[in-house]
Amino acid sequence: MTDNFDRLGRFLTAVLRILPAELSHDIGLLAMEHGFLKLLPPPKNQAVAVPLQVTIPGLGRLRHPIGLAAGFDKDARCPDAFEYMGMSFIELGTVTPRPQAGNPKPRLFRYPETRSIINRMGFNSQGAEAVLRRLQEQKWTPTQVPLGVNVGKNKNTSAEQAINDFITGIEAFATVASWLTVNISSPNTPGLRSLATPEFVRDLAYSAGGHRKKCWIKVDPDMDRKTFQLLIEAIGSHEFPGVIIANTHRVEWPETGGQSGHPLLSPSNTCLEWAWDVTKGSLPVIATGGVLSGVDAFHKLARGAIAIQIYTALIYRGPGAVFRICEELAQELKLRGFGSAEEAIGSCYS
Ligand SMILES: Cc1cc2nc3c(=O)[nH]c(=O)nc-3n(C[C@H](O)[C@H](O)[C@H](O)COP(=O)(O)O)c2cc1C
Repeated sequence: MTDNFDRLGRFLTAVLRILPAELSHDIGLLAMEHGFLKLLPPPKNQAVAVPLQVTIPGLGRLRHPIGLAAGFDKDARCPDAFEYMGMSFIELGTVTPRPQAGNPKPRLFRYPETRSIINRMGFNSQGAEAVLRRLQEQKWTPTQVPLGVNVGKNKNTSAEQAINDFITGIEAFATVASWLTVNISSPNTPGLRSLATPEFVRDLAYSAGGHRKKCWIKVDPDMDRKTFQLLIEAIGSHEFPGVIIANTHRVEWPETGGQSGHPLLSPSNTCLEWAWDVTKGSLPVIATGGVLSGVDAFHKLARGAIAIQIYTALIYRGPGAVFRICEELAQELKLRGFGSAEEAIGSCYS
């Protein structure tokens, strides 16, 4: 059911989409940072047909499985706005140790006809020190939704030194964040994806020490099955809490960069199946990639995801997307005879 928050939000998002993609993102984020969303009629928390609560190890019990994916609020400018949109967990970043500008513009492209985006932002980041200061000033409390920080490496850091960049990020945010994500999967930082090996995972586990129990690893959807499964096994065997499947799909046409939105749904779902094949659900998976509706979300849960992150859905469905996706998910679960979201997790394998 739509409400005025949803209607007005969709209208304003459609107006913003007239502008070039990055400019509209910047304006939207600035407005959210200044509390603009709260000027809209407050969103109505609709009663849903089926209980949607899920548990993420280390993050606790969430009221539903839909959270914010990394990349939208890279510098922790407005996590409270995403909480207001109904996100049940929020991932900030990617944050690099030192500030960097990212790639030259234009670097963000919308394709409404396929409900997709291509980006080659290249980790534009204000750097760990500035983001940490902002998070400390915001005094996020544990009563609010879990807040994670995604950490990456600077462009000019060599592959040999990359682990130091990750450890800098992990140590900087370990106490302020509910969880951390190690990003070895963005396609726009040269050499980053070459770190997605069992050897790197082992070295990271060793260097991160006790902090590794807070570090989820985010992987890309462009590996072959064997390489992907060896990586997943390594992540599971080194006591990382779980894996985020998947980052954007690397494309070279119509623009070079990472593709998100609807075209990513099928490849990222295949990766969920490959992961289940080797873990049988023993390694927790947060799914991201192409979830634009509650039906898409259902198929992530059915393939073994314990929770879901969205990004592109916000661009095409506006700030009411989380509420709508939750309602649609609950309807889909009811239709298929599930009594709760948790019952559906991994159900396509039984
Ligand atoms: C413009 C843009 C920037 C992104 N930046 C990051 C990032 O900094 N770090 C990261 O791990 N993922 C990043 N992502 C990937 C998203 O977190 C997510 O994995 C991907 O978009 C798939 O989800 P979706 O289809 O719901 O958008 C970015 C995605 C987009 C569209």
